[in-house]
This record gives sequence, structure tokens and C-alpha cells, in this order.
Amino acid sequence: MNRPESATPLSVFTVEDTAAQLTWGSLPEGRLRVHAGDASVVVGGAGPGAALLAGLPPGADLDLVAESDDGTTRWLGPLRTLTPPPGRELFRFATVNDIHLGDPRFGRLPMVSHPDDGAGGPPPPERCLRAAVAELAAWGAQLIVAKGDITDHGSVEEWETAAKVLSAPGVPVEAMLGNHDVCRGAVDGTDILAGAGITLSSGAPQARDLPGVRLVVTDTTVAGKNRGTGLRLGDVAPLVAEAEGPAVVALHHHPQRHRTMTHPPRGIPGNEAMPFLDAVAEANPATLVIAGHSHRHRRHRWGPLTVAEVGSPQDYPGTWAGYVVHEGGIRQVVRRVADPDAIAWTESTRDCFLGLWGRWSPGTRDQRCFSLTWPRR
Ligand SMILES: [Fe+2]
Ligand SMILES: [Fe+2]
Repeated sequence: MNRPESATPLSVFTVEDTAAQLTWGSLPEGRLRVHAGDASVVVGGAGPGAALLAGLPPGADLDLVAESDDGTTRWLGPLRTLTPPPGRELFRFATVNDIHLGDPRFGRLPMVSHPDDGAGGPPPPERCLRAAVAELAAWGAQLIVAKGDITDHGSVEEWETAAKVLSAPGVPVEAMLGNHDVCRGAVDGTDILAGAGITLSSGAPQARDLPGVRLVVTDTTVAGKNRGTGLRLGDVAPLVAEAEGPAVVALHHHPQRHRTMTHPPRGIPGNEAMPFLDAVAEANPATLVIAGHSHRHRRHRWGPLTVAEVGSPQDYPGTWAGYVVHEGGIRQVVRRVADPDAIAWTESTRDCFLGLWGRWSPGTRDQRCFSLTWPRR
């Protein structure tokens, strides 16, 4: 296993309304009991890990305290749980993106190679996806949206693995293309995924009405190119305008603020992305736009819209995102894939890109986990 120079400290990666996910790269020997309010969980063991602190009160300011076996206590910091959006919970769905099934390595400086990871079994992208879909199904997702870069080279074998692993938990799956899925030499995975009951959207945007929200999936790929395009985005605004209520627009490429790229990878150029966001805001201000491709976690406002980017299950921090639709809003939660093999792999990619990846990709906790109240239309 590749060991990073640095390791994630014991910290709260995810905050929800009634739960928090604690993660760590390494812990001192022995066990710790972590408390917040009346809830507690035991953490420990060799290597990276994750634990769920459940049963927390929503919208509460709490203190996170670690208690060692010898009874000494240490304050880890404040913990504020999310207030759920207004109204009843109506539906849950989850997303995975940038899985890159078939990719034998991650990053540069240092490059982390899968054959060296020593854990055996399927390669890490498959292991991480398998764990992610099991964990998001246990969380309660009623639909999985696979937001592109499902495969690394769009080979038959990679699409067959995608079909098998994405369908494993028995949750309906809506898939869309990323640039890697349409790279030179890629095959069309539509029929292979259809064999597992998975819809692969390409071309014109598609709308699907879910309880409490309209989901619009949008193909932003250009065959043989890495960058995104706004070519088909003009058809999104009418679809969100026709929604009975709020909407979520799912893209692979992230919308750039500028025409030219300010940081890799290249997304949808700003001169195409900004008119698209303006048109969506005008058509239905109660819209959340979610993207991938950047392998990082960010959130920003565009007028009344929230635009969120979510990272990959197979490189640090190694995540999936959940969405809880309420009558009056939506809540996003981003959890690290907690399976021990998966988190050991994603932790090993933390020091890529001269140690910057571990600081660049995660974003902040409030960029990953948030409750939105829909604005009035
Ligand atoms: Fe990707
Ligand atoms: Fe991509």
C-alpha cells in the first residue's frame, strides 16, 4: 500500500441533520470514544477509517469530545448539525461521478499505482464504487445518478463492470456521459447498461419527475475532447420552466466562471456556462445545479441558484453525494466511502500533486453539506 506523507486528522468530514461522519487517516494506538450531546461512537484501529455518529439533534450547536481508554478527555471542536429544509421529506437520491473504472493509477507527483496497493481483489475504482453504492443504498437512496466519467476509456469491459456494480444494490440508476466515456476509441455503453436496466442519457437533456423535484440530466460532452460544451444547454431552461416545482440539473462538466480555464480540468467555458445559468435562474430560480469532472468539492451561488461540484469515489477524499428532497427545499450530504479497503486506497492518493490534492479536493464542510430552502418561483 502506498502510504501518504501526511494523514487526515480525526475530524468531522460530513454533517447531516441527525448524524456526522468522522474520518481519520491514522489514530494513536488504543480506542477513543467520541461524544457529541448524548450520542457517542468508538473509533480506532490500524489505518484510515470512518465512523458514523448518529442520533444527534438537528440544528444544534454541540461540542465534540474524545475520551481515551484511560479516561482523559480532549475537545475536538464545535459541531453544528444541519437544520433540515422546510416541510416533509419526500425523496432521497444519490450521485456518483468520476469513477474511472479501469483506470490503473491516480495523480502525479507522486503517481499512485493500483497494482502496488497490495489489498488484492478488484482494482480500486471498482472496489470504491462497489462500496459507495452499498453505502448510499444503506443511507436510503431511492435512485442513483451516475454523473459521467463512469469508465476511464469506454471499453466494453469497463461498461460491463459499470453495469454489474451500479445495479448491484437493486436501486434504479440513471447514468450520463463524461468526457472519458466518449474518448477516442470508446464504445457506446448504452446497450450494455440497458442490459442491467440502467438508462444512459446522451444528446438532448432529459427530464424525470421525482417526488418533490424534477431531475434534468444533461450531456455536456464532446466526442474525443476533455472539455465540456454548452451546445445542448439551451434546451435545459424550458425543461426546468415546465417543472411543477423545483428542479435539479445534473451535469458532468462544471460551469467555469471565465472563458479560459483558471485551474484544470477544463469545464464548460464561461461564455457558454454563464448564459446557461442565467437562463435557468430566469426559468426556475428554485433549481440546484450539480456537476462533477473537477474531482473536487465546491459550492457557489449564481443569483438564486446554488451550483455544487462533487468529487470522485476513487480519489481523495473518495466520496458520494446524497440529496434529501423536502417539500420546501433540499439537503446535500457528501460522505467519504467508508469501507476499510476503499478508504485505505483514497487516503493513499492524498499526497498526489506535491501534497496539494489533500488540501484542494475536499473543499470545506459547508461546501459539501448544506440545507437549501427553495426560493419562491
Ligand atoms: Fe473525471
Ligand atoms: Fe471528466
